[in-house]
Amino acid sequence: MGDIGAYASNFSPPSLAVVFEQHGSPDEVARVIELPPIEIKENEVCVKMLASPINPSDINMVQGVYPIKVPLPEVGGHEGVGEVHAFGSAVKGLSLGDWVIPSPPSFVTVNPLTALLLLDDFAKVNPGDTIVQNGSTSIVGQCVIQLAKLRGVHSINIIRDRAGSDDVKERLKRLGADEVHTESQLQVKNVKGLLGALPEPALGFNCVTGNSATLVLKFLRQEGTMVTYGEQS
Ligand SMILES: NC(=O)c1ccc[n+]([C@@H]2O[C@H](COP(=O)([O-])OP(=O)(O)OC[C@H]3O[C@@H](n4cnc5c(N)ncnc54)[C@H](OP(=O)(O)O)[C@@H]3O)[C@@H](O)[C@H]2O)c1
Repeated sequence: MGDIGAYASNFSPPSLAVVFEQHGSPDEVARVIELPPIEIKENEVCVKMLASPINPSDINMVQGVYPIKVPLPEVGGHEGVGEVHAFGSAVKGLSLGDWVIPSPPSFVTVNPLTALLLLDDFAKVNPGDTIVQNGSTSIVGQCVIQLAKLRGVHSINIIRDRAGSDDVKERLKRLGADEVHTESQLQVKNVKGLLGALPEPALGFNCVTGNSATLVLKFLRQEGTMVTYGEQS
């Protein structure tokens, strides 16, 4: 698309959308279509998306296995940030070029808010405490690392074994992770021996399940809390 001024009209610019008309494997049922310009009504805002991730829940929605069902046909994706391109005459408080995010009932900033709620809603975590999580390379996991760091909370992070795991560890440490372990490094008799000076975690996050969830549990202190919020494996 061109510059903002070019679209400050009563019509949206021609756009592309990824749509699915039935549930199934995304590579089979999703297709890109061209949307013609549509008139922007007085209460409507036309937003150009600047960045939008494909989250696991987006894939699950296309597959039809997500707990929330949407009417079909549907445009894929729920999270992102966009720029105001045009708006109707009754819209107040917005200027062309403002950055905006989707608001309820859409999913809003799915992953950062999930990370925030994980840290806030299940157990009281104070500065100096430790949390432990798996799936630490996920966007939720990276948000948890950064929010924990901002709060002075230590984080122990579990990642899958992979080529280049040292680079991944360094990357997560630059974000604020205290410790990063691969799953195979945790196949030891006494996982807590790896805590060093860190306090035993009171709170753990699991988005993988299976053996990886067991590793989170092994780090937790007596009567700690483990929150399962995904099942990537
Ligand atoms: N409950 C909620 O309200 C809520 C909200 C948001 C997200 N979630 C869940 O949070 C999780 C993370 O979401 P995201 O968007 O941040 O994910 P993402 O950025 O797409 O990352 C996916 C993560 O899953 C890991 N993974 C994938 N398959 C795996 C397997 N077989 N075994 C172990 N790890 C595996 C990946 O590890 P590698 O780096 O090794 O590939 C990566 O860490 C998902 O399960 C999602 O459904 C839940």
